[in-house]
Formats: sequence, structure tokens, C-alpha cells
Amino acid sequence: MNVLILGSGAREHTMAWKLSQSPQNPTLFVAPGNAGTASLATNLPLSVTDFGGIAQAVHQNNIELVLVGPEDPLVLGISDYFAADPQLANVPVIGPNKTAAQLEGSKQYAKEFLIRHGIPTAAYAAFTADTLAEGQAFLTTLKAPYVLKADGLAAGKGVLILSDLAEAQSALAEMLVDQKFGAASQTVVIEEFLSGIELSCFVLTDGHSYKVLPTAKDYKRIGEGDTGLNTGGMGAISPVPFADEAFMDKVHQRVVIPTVEGLKKDGITYVGFIFIGLIKVGDDPMVIEYNVRMGDPETEVVLPRIKTDLLTLLHATGQGTLHEVALEIDTRTATTVMAVAGGYPEAYQKGHPITGIDQVKEALVFQAGTAQKGDQVCTNGGRVLAVTAFGADYRQALAESYRGLSHISFQDMYFRKDLGFDL
Ligand code: AMP
Ligand code: GLY
Repeated sequence: MNVLILGSGAREHTMAWKLSQSPQNPTLFVAPGNAGTASLATNLPLSVTDFGGIAQAVHQNNIELVLVGPEDPLVLGISDYFAADPQLANVPVIGPNKTAAQLEGSKQYAKEFLIRHGIPTAAYAAFTADTLAEGQAFLTTLKAPYVLKADGLAAGKGVLILSDLAEAQSALAEMLVDQKFGAASQTVVIEEFLSGIELSCFVLTDGHSYKVLPTAKDYKRIGEGDTGLNTGGMGAISPVPFADEAFMDKVHQRVVIPTVEGLKKDGITYVGFIFIGLIKVGDDPMVIEYNVRMGDPETEVVLPRIKTDLLTLLHATGQGTLHEVALEIDTRTATTVMAVAGGYPEAYQKGHPITGIDQVKEALVFQAGTAQKGDQVCTNGGRVLAVTAFGADYRQALAESYRGLSHISFQDMYFRKDLGFDL
């Protein structure tokens, strides 16, 4: 089977690696991919939002399944684009349609969905420039800290958590009136602040049945001890040690089932991954956000723990026969540590040679911002590569991830040495 993966991160390298293990021997294509995916697949120089170019590549390469990594093509409607074209409609796209993708593309849509289906989440209200005064008055009814969220996609930067009321009121004006996050902040969701520890839960669904995939916890801040700026993710651990059976039972009953059933009630046949961002408040799960795709770097620890053939799972998802497939999970812990370019998530350099990847024997190296220059793999992005390892628990797995990383070097390489510090 010929499979096309859209994206260029370590998430997509992991997807290609997992599919390359399939006994069905699929032929893999990645658009646009990176130096890591090039070793397992044919990279196609296409943007993930170039639907016309992707359609052409699907025809030229007899692609029979498209796996979408990032959210942008989903929010822009790639699934609908395929469904509307008689020549493409029989090629399953693993990723939801444009309506469902609003679960990630619009915070307000997600909040309305959560409330409509009785799924636990923070209380909220949404405002626009026309209701700025009401929004500022609403803030006075809340206790600090104040949570302000740009409604639309803002590359992970659209959430502000402020401790001062006056600061929150002026930030609201900046978002709504001065369009601090462009069109993404034309609507702003103001939320009750929730205090607890975060984790993520992943669900694969064909619109009828579903599988709950392993949990993961990612580390978003650049600095040790969860300090400094937010990043795309500096590492991840799976499973999450505090997500015990009793807690996961609550997640299943209160969140996963009502989400899957809620989609059906709303008339949405959701085909793809649902990434549920949770916060554990006391002993109870609350939903912070939905994403309509797998996480990065969560994929780098979740997929290696899935023993079931990924191609079988994805094919069944596309065919609506997921209930026929048994999901088998590796009970070991997997951890991944992301190595980034010095300066990231602010300005950083590209083009530095990376050495030592082939010396890593005890761990898996999933490449993100890398490019091949002649014989040499060079840095080509902020997050450069992720090193995944297994262990009996997260400490042992992390020791292996760090041992793997010790072989690798590039100029100004940085990684967090404290993952798991909060567990
Ligand atoms: P989001 O983009 O909605 O995932 O929000 C980004 C981050 O902001 C989350 O990962 C949380 O750390 C934090 N956050 C979002 N909503 C809340 C909330 N209601 N209470 C506390 N922290 C929050
Ligand atoms: N690691 C968070 C994300 O993929 O959005």
C-alpha cells in the first residue's frame, strides 16, 4: 500500500518509522518531510496546505491513504477537499473534516461542544471587539489568575495567563481591538483558571468505534523547572505515572465516551486522532483543549508503545472497521527528549552539521528540523531532533534517552535535563 504522510516534524518521522515496521511493507511518501523521513520514505517537496499539489502527488504515486500530521491542513479542510473530488474520494484521509477540526481551530467552538455534551471543563465566556466592555466587566467577577485565549490558531502562543486584573483588562483590549494575534484574536475566550497537573489522552476513531491510545505528558517550557517561554514541546513521557486506573476510568467515562458520542450527536463522522489536553484537578479530569491530530513530541512516545501494526489501525480507521482491530500496548515506559537550536523559541541559527546520530544504538532518533546537505545532516529548524528510549519506569527510560543524546552534537545544541522533575 502507498501511504502519504503530511508534515515535517519528529511526529511525522515517528509515523513513517512506525509504518516502516509494518509487515505489509507499505511504500511511504512524506510531504515535505525532513532528512530523517528521507531515509524511510520518498520526500515530496510540497507544502501541507497545497491541496492541488497534494492531489496531483496522490494520483502520480497511487497513494491509497493520507495521514495528516499537523492541524493546518485539517482546519483548512483537506478531508472535505478529498471527499468532494470524485477522483480522490476513495482515498481515506486520516484526519477530521473542517467542521470537526474547529475543535482545535476555534476555542469557542470547542467550549460550546464541551458544555453541550456535559464534559468537564473550566467555566468561560467569549467576547469580541463589540463586547469589549462586557469582557472587561466579566474579568472583575473572576479571581486571579486570568486566562485569556485567542479563539483561532495562534501557533501555540494565543493563551495568556495574567495575575493582575488591570493587566488582563488591557490584554483583552489588545487582543480584540489591536488584534494582537491577528484574526485569531477577533474572538477571545476568558476562562476560569484551573490548578493541577496536565496530561494528554489520545483517541483514534473511525466515527463509529474508537481506541484509547497511551497517555503522555509533555514539557512545554524552554527552561528547567518549567520556566521561560513556551515551545512546541521539549520532551514527553508515556504512560503518565499519576494517571492510574481509577483516574483513567474517569477520563474514559466523563471525557472520552461523551466526546465520541457528542461528535455523533452533532452529525460529525470523525475519522482520525483526537488529542485531549487534560488537567487533573484534585482527583478529577477537566478538559483544557482538544487538538484534532497527534501531539508533537507526544507521538514520539505514544506510537513506539503501540505494538499493533499501525497500518492495520489506520486502514481500518479509513474503512470504518476499527472495531475489528485489537490494540496492543507495550507496558514499558517511553520517554523522548528534544534537542533544540540555541536561542529557540526565539531567534536561532540553521545549517549547522549534526554528528553522532548513527552512533545512537540504545535509543531511537526522530528528526524534526533537519535537512540533508550532501552527505551531511544539518539543523534546519528550532526543534532539531527527539531521542526516544524505553525503560521499566520513566527514570530508566530517561537515562537511556539522555545516554542516546550524549552521542549527538551540533553547534549551540540545547535540551532540558530535568524531564520528569514534577512526577
Ligand atoms: P491551550 O492552548 O488551551 O492548551 O492552553 C495552553 C496552556 O495554557 C495549557 O497547556 C495550560 O498550561 C494553560 N491553560 C489553558 N487553560 C487553562 C485554564 N483554564 N487554567 C489553567 N491553565 C490553563
Ligand atoms: N505538544 C503539544 C502539541 O502537539 O500541540
